[in-house]
Amino acid sequence: MNADHETVPMAPGAGTRWRTRFRAWFGGATIQGRLVRNFALAILVPALVTAVVGVGMIRQLVFAQAQTQVNADLEAAKEIYQSTIDRLEDAIRIHATRMVIYGALTRRDTTGLAEEMDRIRRAERLDVLTLTDADGRVFYRSGNPAAPAGGDANDSLVALALTQLEPAAGTEVVDAGVLERESPALARQAAITISPTPRARPTAAREVRSGMMLRAAAPVSTPGGRLLGVLDGGVLITRNYEIVDKIRRTVFKEEEYKGRPVGTATIFQNDVRVSTNVRLADGTRAIGTQASAEVADAVLSRGETWRGRAFVVQDWYLAAYTPIRDVSGATIGMLYVGVLERPFTDSLWRSLLVFLGIAAGGVALVYLVAVRVARRFSEPIHGMTMAAQRIAQGDYSQAVRGGGDDELGYLAHSFNTMTAELQLAHTALRESADELERKVEERTAELKRMQAQMIQSEKMVAIGKLAAGVAHEINNPLTGVLTNSSLMLEDLADDHPWREDIQTIVNETLRCRKIVKGLLDFSRQTKPQRTLLDLNQVVEDTLSLVRNQTVFRNTKIVYELDPHLPTVLADADQMRQVVLNIVLNAAEAMVQGGELRLASASNLAKKAVELRISDTGPGVPDEVRARIFEPFFTTKKTGTGLGLAVAYGIIERHHGEIRIDSARGKGTTFTISVPIGGTADDD
Ligand SMILES: Nc1ncnc2c1ncn2[C@@H]1O[C@H](COP(=O)(O)OP(=O)(O)OP(=O)(O)O)[C@@H](O)[C@H]1O
Ligand SMILES: [Mg+2]
Repeated sequence: MNADHETVPMAPGAGTRWRTRFRAWFGGATIQGRLVRNFALAILVPALVTAVVGVGMIRQLVFAQAQTQVNADLEAAKEIYQSTIDRLEDAIRIHATRMVIYGALTRRDTTGLAEEMDRIRRAERLDVLTLTDADGRVFYRSGNPAAPAGGDANDSLVALALTQLEPAAGTEVVDAGVLERESPALARQAAITISPTPRARPTAAREVRSGMMLRAAAPVSTPGGRLLGVLDGGVLITRNYEIVDKIRRTVFKEEEYKGRPVGTATIFQNDVRVSTNVRLADGTRAIGTQASAEVADAVLSRGETWRGRAFVVQDWYLAAYTPIRDVSGATIGMLYVGVLERPFTDSLWRSLLVFLGIAAGGVALVYLVAVRVARRFSEPIHGMTMAAQRIAQGDYSQAVRGGGDDELGYLAHSFNTMTAELQLAHTALRESADELERKVEERTAELKRMQAQMIQSEKMVAIGKLAAGVAHEINNPLTGVLTNSSLMLEDLADDHPWREDIQTIVNETLRCRKIVKGLLDFSRQTKPQRTLLDLNQVVEDTLSLVRNQTVFRNTKIVYELDPHLPTVLADADQMRQVVLNIVLNAAEAMVQGGELRLASASNLAKKAVELRISDTGPGVPDEVRARIFEPFFTTKKTGTGLGLAVAYGIIERHHGEIRIDSARGKGTTFTISVPIGGTADDD
């Protein structure tokens, strides 16, 4: 009970495991599974067909051959049967010529006959030996001498011998009464109880009391040829196994298969076994059993020889039955031989097993080969699949190990080449994307700058117009004020109390005029007097004018002037003004100390000369930078905010460009670019 409880729950687990394993070996959608399945099918189907067809053919062949052999065996059995009759006939014929026999009949005296007849009976192993006189009356019955004589004239064999004067022999069914009269022992030997046998002809009889005998009769004559009577002898076949065992001995060599005789022989009286070496399950001879109805109908009723597969008592046999006829030609029984079918079927099964074994071996071999082949195919493919997945995730360092120098190796090689190219393409793509992004950023920045510049220049134009208008309007009255106040000042005595005030008017008016001039410079109102100009020279002249001023005290001046700078067509005073305004601002930004760098270079692409003026001051904050070129924009207490506005106006008028680059804490650089050779003055 315990063992059951332990084993039952384990069974499904084991089953599942085996199913999984089976699926792993033969199933699944893998290449390996498909190959193995197809290979196995390719060998299994032909193997099974061959097995079925082959074994069927072998079976037919073997059975046909075996049946032919059985037919031959039947002929041999018939021969043995007939030779037994012939021998009996010969013996009776010879003994009929003996003097003791015909002497007794001649003398009608049985003296000495009894011993001789007994001797003959024993020597020839006869059951019956009878001497009959010429009238057909029994003269001496050796089996039962006491029985009443006479009355045998209706014995067909004796009658035949008497009429034909020739010996006669054959098989006869002898009545129970005759047997009884001969000897009670003989009657007992002949009596057989019929065992009901399946598939036998239905019969009401429960027993057989008549007996089947081999008989021979020979005429007894005087040496002169006078017929005296008939000597006849017989052997009861019932329960006499001499013939059937001789058949088994000579035809079947007493072969046995698994304890059973391979070859068997039987003599039937009608359809009842009376002499046989077919055994019952208990090992006794199957006396009293019946032949099948099919056989009885063919052999007994129709007088045919029946051949085929027959179930005899307890086994299947390949069998043959032939009719046994009496001297009148009537069928009275059958002679049977049969060989056990089992050795044939067993050997067939064995060959089938061997066949299936070979097929199974073939399948196993195919499995091994298929697995090897499949592995050779599927491993690189699996590797490529995994590699492809990783490549899809962006890892290009995937190389697959290729098989040999076959298609797979070539595929792996191509895969690796493709991966490498993919990586290159991917890198190039990323670089170009980065480049594109960078260009877009640059372009956007440039656009922004240009836009700002446009806004700036439009603003400057508007401011310029305003400034010009104001300057014009102020310039004339200012000139009047200045002229008159100057004249007044000249006319006044040195100690005149107004003198100081008038002087203030003159000074302030001068200051105003300066501002107006600045406004006019800014608003392009002052026309440039253009000459061919070396900007290096302009820079040096300007610096030499101002460098001794106190504001430059702590400033280190560095020149990086290009000696091969092309000349430009420009107004020298105005250009000096530009440089001056910028370097002043720089110096003012670096009162604590710093470096002023002055660089010039030609920019051939722009066909311009560039001046770069850099300082190491505090730099310009964004909000200042946005308005730095506006007039009056200043962060200084005493500044007018016109310095850069004037510079801007002048450079504009020269069709140049002024740019500021600055970051807080990193100093400031002003770049001025003036076109080489200048352009026609369109102002
Ligand atoms: N190199 C520089 N470093 C720092 N700030 C500067 C520099 N140059 C100009 N600036 C700023 O730009 C403003 C405008 O300068 P701009 O020269 O036009 O006028 P200003 O110097 O203030 O007065 P003005 O030059 O008329 O005496 C300045 O007030 C200052 O704030
Ligand atoms: Mg200034």
